Amino acid sequence: MSLTKDTRLTLHDGNTMPVIGLGTFASADVPKSDGTEATKFAIDLGYRHIDCAYVYGNEVEIGEAIRSKIADGTVKREEIFYTGKLWCSFFSPDLVRQGLEASLKALQLDYLDLFIMHWPFSLKPADTHNTQPIAFDNVDFCLTWEALERCKDAGLVKSIGVSNFNRRQLERLLSKPGLKYKPVCNQVEYHVYLNQSKLLEYCKSKDIVLVAYCVLGSSRDKDWVDPSSPVLLEDPVLRSVAGKYNRSPAEVAMRFILQKGVVVLAKSFNPARLKQNLGVFDFELNPEDMDTLDGLNRNLRYAKLTVMKQHPEYPFHDEY
Ligand SMILES: NC(=O)c1ccc[n+]([C@@H]2O[C@H](COP(=O)([O-])OP(=O)(O)OC[C@H]3O[C@@H](n4cnc5c(N)ncnc54)[C@H](OP(=O)(O)O)[C@@H]3O)[C@@H](O)[C@H]2O)c1
Repeated sequence: MSLTKDTRLTLHDGNTMPVIGLGTFASADVPKSDGTEATKFAIDLGYRHIDCAYVYGNEVEIGEAIRSKIADGTVKREEIFYTGKLWCSFFSPDLVRQGLEASLKALQLDYLDLFIMHWPFSLKPADTHNTQPIAFDNVDFCLTWEALERCKDAGLVKSIGVSNFNRRQLERLLSKPGLKYKPVCNQVEYHVYLNQSKLLEYCKSKDIVLVAYCVLGSSRDKDWVDPSSPVLLEDPVLRSVAGKYNRSPAEVAMRFILQKGVVVLAKSFNPARLKQNLGVFDFELNPEDMDTLDGLNRNLRYAKLTVMKQHPEYPFHDEY
């Protein structure tokens, strides 16, 4: 299938998801207004999929950007695919709708296109964006899921899915008695150093779309990324493949993922890089270069969230 920036994957619930999405997470020192400007510019360039989350603390600004591009006639609401994420402190079934409504209110939108559980583990309820101190909770995510199903039935979200679930957790959800809707996607870290081949195969077998984050090797935010971890875009093999195609390492890192049938999220608040990242649709990696890039896998995670390691639902103790 030839891919363009307008290509959308059909989800098993019949809705469609653009194959490239704009990531909007930025560290606390980045002015929130940068996200507004970048999102507006991205929509002008043709990005239609915006990935955000309650916990990023910027849904007011990202919503403002989306609404301004609707108001000026650049896009219609139905052309935008907005993903929001239920933060772990709203996992108690009676809080799920409250968590969703907090996002809708910040965004000033009537519905989300996709609403996903941000992680499989729950935290004690909190009433701010502040996740410190971390207080583990023990809400069964299957009960949280039933509340997400009710949000879909209420028309507040078009599709529901999960993020950072391992295979065992997906299996538990899929075999939940009375399951009404399967998750349409699992959003996970995915890049040339973590190619997730087993999880991808499993998700494909269940018609669950994999959505990739940290595809460029993350923003290397010092709060959650080990500064000694290798810089993905400086990888010599990646750079040499990029050189062959006269492309940037970022474009090749993204293209690799798209050719796997995985949806790619990439964050940039820089106009030139936002534009460059759409270059992924103008070239194709040949099978030998795909194999070469597969060979870079080293099961390396940038987003380990080690602070959650003791939680019984921490997903990364399992192989995949
Ligand atoms: N579900 C989850 O738990 C989860 C976890 C992490 C992330 N996410 C989502 O996934 C998105 C992407 O992940 P991420 O932000 O961690 O990392 P990323 O997209 O892998 O990398 C972002 C970094 O790459 C830089 N960049 C962008 N385009 C570039 C290019 N062409 N050449 C060189 N550098 C480039 C950006 O800087 P500039 O902005 O300066 O261009 C930024 O520092 C997030 O924003 C968020 O929406 C979800």
